[in-house]
Parts: sequence; C-alpha cells; structure tokens
Amino acid sequence: MFIVAVLVTGGAGYIGSHTVAELIEKNEEVIVVDNLEKGHREAIISNKLNGDSNVGNVNLLVGDLRDKDFLKEAFSKNDIEAVIHFAAYIEVGESVANPLKYYNNNVISTLNLLTAMKDAGVNKIVFSSTAATYGEPENIPILETDKTFPTNPYGETKLAVEKALRWADNAYGIKHVILRYFNASGAHVSGCIGEDHSPETHLIPLVIQTALGKRESIKIFGNDYNTPDGTCVRDYIHVSDLANAHYLALQSLRRGEESKIYNLGNGKGFSVKEVIDVVRKVTGRPIKAENAPRRPGDPAILVASSEKIRKELNWKPQMADLETIVSTAWEWHKNHPNGYSDK
Ligand code: UFG
Repeated sequence: MFIVAVLVTGGAGYIGSHTVAELIEKNEEVIVVDNLEKGHREAIISNKLNGDSNVGNVNLLVGDLRDKDFLKEAFSKNDIEAVIHFAAYIEVGESVANPLKYYNNNVISTLNLLTAMKDAGVNKIVFSSTAATYGEPENIPILETDKTFPTNPYGETKLAVEKALRWADNAYGIKHVILRYFNASGAHVSGCIGEDHSPETHLIPLVIQTALGKRESIKIFGNDYNTPDGTCVRDYIHVSDLANAHYLALQSLRRGEESKIYNLGNGKGFSVKEVIDVVRKVTGRPIKAENAPRRPGDPAILVASSEKIRKELNWKPQMADLETIVSTAWEWHKNHPNGYSDK
C-alpha cells in the first residue's frame, strides 16, 4: 500500500536533518533522498527520536538527483505529496573557484527534480535558498523585495532555481515557498543531531573547535569593515527555528496558498568579535583570535527582515537568543568532537 509522504532531498545534511526531525515530530511520513556525499546516514537514524510511536516515520533512498532514472523510480514507487529541496553544494569560496560544479549540482539537479515532480503530478515544493541571492544589500534589514544581485556563483545558482520555480508555477502550477536563510546555526535540543560539515567553513563551529583545542586560533576575516567594531555582522538563526519554518511553509502550500518568498533570520546582527565573545562566555574557555585578511565576497552586514513570514505564516522563533543558539551548538560539539564519526 502506498503511504503519502513528503520527499526531502538533502535530508541527511545539517538543515535537512533538523527539518526531518521537525516533520516526524509533527507525525509526517518522510522519504529522504540523499547521495550521502555531504550528508550523514546517522543524521537520519538519530531522528527516530527514542522510538516514540507517536511520531512519523522516515525512510532513506540513497541516490543522486542528477540520476534521472533514480528520481523517476523514487516518484513512481512512492506516493509523494510534496517536496522539500535542500540538496545542494553550499560553499561560497568553492563556488567561485569551480562555478560549473555548482551549476551542475545546484541547478541541473533541481531541473531534474522539477521534471520528475511535473511528470508525477506533484505540485508543492519548499526550496532552500539563501541570503547570498541579495549580494551587497541595498538596505538593512533586508526585505524580500530588495534587489537580488549575487556576488558569487553559489548565490547565482540559488537565484537561478528561484526563477525556474516561478516559471514552473506559471506553466505547470507547481506552487513553491522559497526560504532565504541567513546564518543557520546551533543544534537540535535532543543533542542527537548537529552540524558536521567537511570542510567546516562556518564561524560558530570553527570558534567552538578552537574552544575544544582542535584549532590553535580563530581567524577574524577582516577588521576594517564599516561596522561598529570593524568585523562583519551577520544574523544568526537557530536551525530548529529554520526547520519549523519549512513545516509552516508546507502547511501553507497544503492550504492552497500562492507561491511565496520569505527571509529567515532573527533581525538582529552580531559581529564576528561578538560571536567569539559569546562562545567564550558559553564555553568558559579561552579562545585565541587573530586578525586575518578579508574573505573575498563577504558583505559587511547581512541582517534579515523576517516580518513577512512572522505575519503571514505566524512563524515565531523559539531560540532567537545568540547565547541559546551557541549553547545548543556547544552541547553537540562537546559530545561529538569529530561529528557523526564519533557515533
Ligand atoms: N568568519 C571569520 N572567520 C572564520 C569563518 C568565518 O571571520 O574562520 C566570518 C566571515 O567572514 C563572515 C562571518 O564570519 O563575516 C560568518 O561566516 P560564515 O562562513 O559562518 O557564514 P556566511 O555569512 O559567510 O555564510 C552564510 C551561509 C552561506 C550563505 C551565506 C549568505 O553559510 O551558505 O550565509 O550570505 F551563502
């Protein structure tokens, strides 16, 4: 018998696995599609949330979205109601060095996915987009209606998909919610899942690795920006608050609402130096910081206005405070200093 399910691509990754946890807590049936190149099988197994029978179920299909036959089979052998699409490469620096790798994975895979959805009659998709679609912001906080002008191929590939989604809606009636994330951070409160990228490039896990003695120091990329302390300012959002936004987006599509774009951040900016200080406070450990050159492509300030999703979908972040976000990340990294390979 077919069970109606939500298909989550990249569900073994960082934000994907937290969204899968959110979905099964909401008693959803989930099928994860992941090639496990960057994702972790353990990130899904640990989503079984203590074997609680009141939660939904998750199954993993290992395969690549560039494999059209694999996709066709995934859609024909399961009754897919909606798709949440995370699978993508995410490293800005690598995308500048190797743009075609990013177009190939991030754009072509999504076109295959949309084709499979169209062929199977699936008409709902929640898409994982990014603040990188804006490039250098016109205004702070950034509104969804502000100009999009990416400064790197990663942002370009996400914007290209956003545009394809608009035309797929127009022609085939595939409705979408595009979520433009600011800086995803923190870990699940259960302590079972968290951030494990290879290589790690994100600020909070790198500062925590320094607190753990796995790194000598944290490099501050630029201290001469036009910001209060000269270091870059970002809007950090807890990964479980992001995950909940995906569930709310899915529900809005189920209610038959129109396609939408929403920013997701907490609307408050923290500088690199402030983040390092919060990690020092939370961990109680000394952390050596050194000034380093600017990282190419980094805008000085990125802070979101998330008023639209708060108003329209009643999104309310539960862990907006940076100390809370860092505390959840600290719990995860302290207990899994080598990420999922510890378990
Ligand atoms: N930073 C350092 N030292 C480090 C690492 C980062 O100073 O060792 C700084 C960066 O220069 C930046 C800030 O810390 O100013 C945050 O950097 P992250 O790499 O953690 O996050 P980004 O803001 O660069 O990137 C995030 C997402 C990307 C997305 C981007 C959108 O991780 O996927 O937001 O702007 F594209």
